[in-house]
Amino acid sequence: MQDMPSLPGRRIVLGITGGIAAYKTPELVRLLHARGALVRVVLSHSARQFVTAGALAAVGAQVVDDRGPGMVHIELARWADAILIAPATAHLLSRLAAGAADDLLTTACLATEAPLCVAPAMNRVMWRHAATRANCALLAERAVVFIGPAEGPQACGEDGPGRMTEPCEIVAALERLWAAHGSLQGVRAVVTAGATYEALDPARGFTNRSTGKMGYALAAALADQGASVTLVSGPTALAPPPGVRIMAVTSAAQMRDAVMACREEMDVFVGAAAVADYRPQTVLARKLKKTADALTITFVRNPDILAEVAALTPPPFTVGFAAETGDLESQARAKRARKGIDLMVANPIDEEGVGFAHDDNRVLLIDKDRTVAWAAAPKTEVARALVREIIKRLPRTAPP
Ligand code: PMT
Repeated sequence: MQDMPSLPGRRIVLGITGGIAAYKTPELVRLLHARGALVRVVLSHSARQFVTAGALAAVGAQVVDDRGPGMVHIELARWADAILIAPATAHLLSRLAAGAADDLLTTACLATEAPLCVAPAMNRVMWRHAATRANCALLAERAVVFIGPAEGPQACGEDGPGRMTEPCEIVAALERLWAAHGSLQGVRAVVTAGATYEALDPARGFTNRSTGKMGYALAAALADQGASVTLVSGPTALAPPPGVRIMAVTSAAQMRDAVMACREEMDVFVGAAAVADYRPQTVLARKLKKTADALTITFVRNPDILAEVAALTPPPFTVGFAAETGDLESQARAKRARKGIDLMVANPIDEEGVGFAHDDNRVLLIDKDRTVAWAAAPKTEVARALVREIIKRLPRTAPP
């Protein structure tokens, strides 16, 4: 296996439980790290007898425990693109099957929506025991991915199934996991982000408080899943996410033209930009002089980009954002229906700490049938969770 970034930016929580094979986990971390993955490690109490936090940190892992402030398990669960438990002992499998939530690793497993992979390691008789078989069957039914175990000589002196799969094969299994599931390979996504600017004269114009953070996070999250992403961006101070094509625009009319230029190559459209609904009817060629006591400016309607995209034949999968004050759900639900889109993401812009310009957002996910409320979270995590929802709903892709 070559050291190439086949897992670029993949966020992997590695749970290590107490088996002798834990001594191989620094090598596992090293391989993941070499492939571009970001690795956070949770060590069970008994795993510490076989491997040290220092050895894991030395090869690039961030070792996490639950002594920090806040809800570490939730933070970890949301951060993860996948949770991998290697080695996974018989005891750990039984606790997962039972839905245990009595330490950081099991609570993170329960709280995550990311795929859960286990690389079992135990004595061959334990592996074949009816209790273990039943636990594995239950976990497989719940879509837990089993990597191994391998067969061969065991630390206990016996020979048979129960050896932890070698680190390089575990890494290959993760690469296959994303190639098979997590991917939006071949999917073309267009995302709008940031504010538009509607000029009045060469010096002045009308804009809003959008920074582009939400849209940029979405473009990055879509690209992370393999989509080919075009980001149509209003003026912003943000750096473009790696691997994303940028189309820089200023006004709503330019944004509309840039989006429509992609109309033939658009499987998914996400409108996260705060597009001006109106623009000054006349853009003055010369700076407006301060002569009158009062000033009246006539505004005209801008094109509704989102509604126009949703009306394409055939339409892409279309996601809009509704920035609302007051009753969030009813206004956003009505907006979803009016614009004829698949999914509306409603966010309040009159709440402390979320919405415009903040790093966090609090959203409601509204489709034709129901509304789901998500707790406030960093925009990067909202974006990743939203991309998982898009993947679930796209007819051509399977959930990661
Ligand atoms: O950029 P940040 O600082 O991170 O802030 C994020 C955000 C609050 C701007 C973002 O989460 C958000 O809510 N974006 C949409 C803001 C908005 O314009 O909402 P709206 O309710 O006015 O519009 C509804 C939808 O129609 C949006 O998807 C918008 O992109 C789209 N629209 C609106 C008007 C228009 N002329 N054309 C459009 O496509």
